[in-house]
Amino acid sequence: MTHHDARGLALSTDQAASVAVYEQALDLFNSLRLDPVAVLQPALEQDPDFISGHLLMAGFMLSAIDGQALPAARESLAAAAASRHRPNERERSFQAALQVWADGDMGRANRLLDRHLIDHPRDLFALQLTHMADVVRCQSTMLRDRIGRALDQWSEDDVGYSYVLGMHAFGLEECNEYARAEALGMEALARNPQDAWAVHAVAHVYEMQGRVAEGIRWLTTETSLWQQDNALAVHNHWHLALQHLRNGDHASALALYDRAIAPGPASMALDLVDASALLWRLGLRGVDVAARWQALAARWRDQAAWGWSVFNDVHAMLALVGAGEPAQIEVGQRAMAAVPATAPAPWWREAGTLCEAVMAFGAGRYAHCAQLLLPLLPATNGFGGSQAQRSLIYLTAMEAARRAGDAALWEALCSEGAARQASAIPARARRELELKAA
Ligand SMILES: [Fe+2]
Repeated sequence: MTHHDARGLALSTDQAASVAVYEQALDLFNSLRLDPVAVLQPALEQDPDFISGHLLMAGFMLSAIDGQALPAARESLAAAAASRHRPNERERSFQAALQVWADGDMGRANRLLDRHLIDHPRDLFALQLTHMADVVRCQSTMLRDRIGRALDQWSEDDVGYSYVLGMHAFGLEECNEYARAEALGMEALARNPQDAWAVHAVAHVYEMQGRVAEGIRWLTTETSLWQQDNALAVHNHWHLALQHLRNGDHASALALYDRAIAPGPASMALDLVDASALLWRLGLRGVDVAARWQALAARWRDQAAWGWSVFNDVHAMLALVGAGEPAQIEVGQRAMAAVPATAPAPWWREAGTLCEAVMAFGAGRYAHCAQLLLPLLPATNGFGGSQAQRSLIYLTAMEAARRAGDAALWEALCSEGAARQASAIPARARRELELKAA
């Protein structure tokens, strides 16, 4: 028997109650509120043949981008396959893509989801999950264009439309279309203030445009629903910390780390990534964070799933270098080097070089660090994450150059960074304008 979700998609189940829970869990996931897993689990126990429910659960596990969640994803997929119902075409297509992802090939899964979403553009969960994979795989244009492909099939009265706008806002931001990104993010939030991803998209605009005061206001007084019980709380707090750093306010960034970013009992790999990135940025600025590195490295030691995600592994390495743990660094290096060159996720070789550069920085061999990083700078996209996250590599190269006394490289990278901002006027041109005005 078939029921339909709020967007008209057929779900193979004979229990209407299961569909209601599906909608509730999906809406929590859409706005990244907690805890969709806890909401969905009892419904699956009640209705073990609910195929789309099991696929939803498998996707929740995969969205953690954590190698340790893969067995649970595979279990959910097995439960979907064991259903006494016959899956419809959409469920079959989605299940096939998730199975490939759970088996470790996120790249091929992403290509399968490409086609799935062309055939099923109103499959909101598949759209969001693939959007998240696009972030991890750093497919900047697809962050914008995958949503663009689906948009014509949505109307503003559709349940979940605001989430589509929020995702489009983030995609536009990653493609440097800041004005449209800001406007769409605001529109998404006007329709649904719970949308933490739309909050995040606008925070990115402020970060990329260097609008510090607006960025701080945005994440403190203008929006607040994302701050509690939200899977994006750590990451949005990380964005707020970046604005404090831009202000040179290290004390506020550190206080925020201690209050809202440092790992807690429920931290996921995504949270540890933000913690590593913030401590590393503070260290680049000469702030002593040694004690915090120890606690964070201990978490990574327990939680690192080496060889699954370049992005996670490099961030784990930052913590191990920060804490000075050579034995663990070697474990990580060996695991990363063992990923075959043919692995579906690219950039493992470059990640090895990046880790070497990080170790050189940690050991005070700054010239060597800068030398290793310079050839990586044109190709940092393979690292994954957002532009704001990848800027860590530039900042490390700049600071290494400065500490090595390589003034030419330091000035070149400063100039490059300033010129990359759409609104920036190169320093030389600015001086000429000032002279003319005088
Ligand atoms: Fe972000």
